[in-house]
Amino acid sequence: MERWIDPAQAARWCASADERGLAVGFVPTMGALHEGHLELVRRAARENDAALVSVFVNPLQFNDPADFERYPRDFDGDAAQLEAVGCTAVFTGDTTGFFGTADLARVPRADPGPAARGLEGEHRPGHFEGVATIVRRLFQIVRPTRAYFGEKDFQQTLVVRHIARALGYPEVVVCPTSREPSGLARSSRNTRLDELERARAAAISAGLAEAQRAWRAGERDPAALEAVLAASLARAGIEPEYAAVRDPHHWTGRERPAGPLEQAQALVAARIGAVRLIDNLRLDGPLLRREVVS
Ligand code: PAF
Repeated sequence: MERWIDPAQAARWCASADERGLAVGFVPTMGALHEGHLELVRRAARENDAALVSVFVNPLQFNDPADFERYPRDFDGDAAQLEAVGCTAVFTGDTTGFFGTADLARVPRADPGPAARGLEGEHRPGHFEGVATIVRRLFQIVRPTRAYFGEKDFQQTLVVRHIARALGYPEVVVCPTSREPSGLARSSRNTRLDELERARAAAISAGLAEAQRAWRAGERDPAALEAVLAASLARAGIEPEYAAVRDPHHWTGRERPAGPLEQAQALVAARIGAVRLIDNLRLDGPLLRREVVS
């Protein structure tokens, strides 16, 4: 596996791969890799001639400087895991390497589009502009055939599709959320949960599963589905930042869509101790299976 510490090296390799007609699958990450990332890389390797991964903790997408400082970083550990799952190359770099300047104020921002409105966009001002800016830059460096993202960051996948549409590439592949046996969505931030917090955090996916059961029982009213979700979280003592139901195909930002819905995505953000977690579930999608540990 190749390892590059400068995005320019990745750009050179990718330009030559393009000339050779290679299909490149790309997985952008902020490192601190877990099984969810590795699933994306395995799939990228299976579906393309080469699988590339970027590791960059993008300062532009952190609205909380302390969260940026605390974000776990372990490039050597990440590289070792990637090598084991058939990654062709991993690259990283600093702010100058990615944006051509160390002065973040001078970096031209990308428009994240209408999906940035509401929920994460409201609770993390500037976050999606930061995501859109780095994702556009990464796509321009790699010019991938396909790019792979986890559904856990549902609203982010809508923003990424907006960027890919504007550039005309790549094909965006959204992969199912990777979960622990308890149902807890895998996230680099989970490493900061202690054992008790981890058990409490599993109540987020339990709430989503309960909303899904209500959907399967015939409930189509978004307000009623939100009430099921909120009640389940409240029973576990979780006060969410938001617990919302949206139509995944017609993003309505801050407003709850008018029901009855034909498809529904339930989305939650909540703090467990000092850790902010997000999760979501397609209510009309595959059943969320979780092992209940008592
Ligand atoms: O999902 C992430 O890890 C990040 O938001 C991404 C897409 C790598 C951009 O920094």
